[in-house]
Amino acid sequence: MSKFILGISGSITAYKSAYLVRALVKKGHEVKVIMTPSATHFISPITLSTLSKNDVNIDLIDAGTWNNHVDLGLWADAMIIAPATATTLGKLANGIADNMLIATYLSAKCPVHIAPAMDLDMWKHPSTKRNIELLKSYGNHIIPVGNGELASGLYGDGRMAEPDEIVSYIEKSKNQPLKDKNVLITAGPTHEKIDAVRFISNRSTGKMGIALADACQDAGANVTLVLGPSKHRPLNKSVQVISITSASDMYNASIQHYKETDIAIMAAAVADYTPIKTFSHKIKKAEGNWNMDLERTKDIAAELGKLKKKDQINIGFALETDNELEYAKKKMKKKSFDFIVLNSLKDKGAGFAHDTNKVTIIHSDNKIKKYELKSKLDVAHDIIKEIVTILPNA
Ligand code: CTP
Repeated sequence: MSKFILGISGSITAYKSAYLVRALVKKGHEVKVIMTPSATHFISPITLSTLSKNDVNIDLIDAGTWNNHVDLGLWADAMIIAPATATTLGKLANGIADNMLIATYLSAKCPVHIAPAMDLDMWKHPSTKRNIELLKSYGNHIIPVGNGELASGLYGDGRMAEPDEIVSYIEKSKNQPLKDKNVLITAGPTHEKIDAVRFISNRSTGKMGIALADACQDAGANVTLVLGPSKHRPLNKSVQVISITSASDMYNASIQHYKETDIAIMAAAVADYTPIKTFSHKIKKAEGNWNMDLERTKDIAAELGKLKKKDQINIGFALETDNELEYAKKKMKKKSFDFIVLNSLKDKGAGFAHDTNKVTIIHSDNKIKKYELKSKLDVAHDIIKEIVTILPNA
């Protein structure tokens, strides 16, 4: 997920920035808005702070305190300036840092995308043309203006690109190593029904698989997430979530989608056994012990391994408590994984429920990479980097 600064300057079209914030947040991105003082005449900072779930910055000095534009500039993965008026273009091009937006732009080290908006005569003016050329020469990306009715009632060039166009323009300019790949991810625990109120399960929360779904979608993939009972969901609303309950449901959903899959990542903690007999009512207790017969569930990863074609990639996880490397290698071979991600319950901060994980990746050619303890999203990015090394035609 990316961190964006959205700079808004004073134009009639500033109301569309609210849609832009929503579109970015819906894709799981974090957005911090900076407005020029004149932009506040066109749209309320409260609308933007509510939609972005962050404070809106307007002034360099607030109640006697200096706002740190340097930190903000360094925080962002990318800056978007939309709408950028003729005045703001001029200030950006010439380094006139008389407001928070321009000061942050001058401190930012990230890519900057500028969506100009103005009337057609202003757009055509040589000073605007020169400023655009200057901004391009500094490495900024200029998002093309649209043609149509303008606020003046005139028709012509100068309309700001629509919010959805801005989002797709930014996504296209991003490095997307899994562009158009179909990724299938299993995640979370499964519930194996005993009776109307009881089930067998495990401590998986689904967080690792969900982080992978977000990271793969952000890397350009079309992600299908087969998710067992979990209270968590991907941030990126473009991820297709198939909610399932039991190991058998997870097997059916995975098999159904595997044919179109380029990369399958099995991150779920699937129950290995399920009750042979289930009860629709609540079982009442009785004197003495009670035994329950369990049967093996289908091994989803192993079944997908049997169906695997040459250009498909299958990746598995192994959570072990002892003989970690040996067990993980055996699983990789048995289930035809291209690589396996091993986490040991011996490592602090790794495994179920944590927001962090510490993994070792073992490739089928025995190449082993050990990683530090990091956030599950960063682990997901490490896994994507390893996938990229084994993509067909990589
Ligand atoms: N897996 C699966 N279907 C199952 C069991 C496991 O798809 N019925 C997948 C997991 O998602 C993981 C890998 O196989 O990617 C290894 O799972 P794990 O539970 O560690 O191993 P098991 O094969 O179940 O072996 P054991 O429980 O004996 O360690």
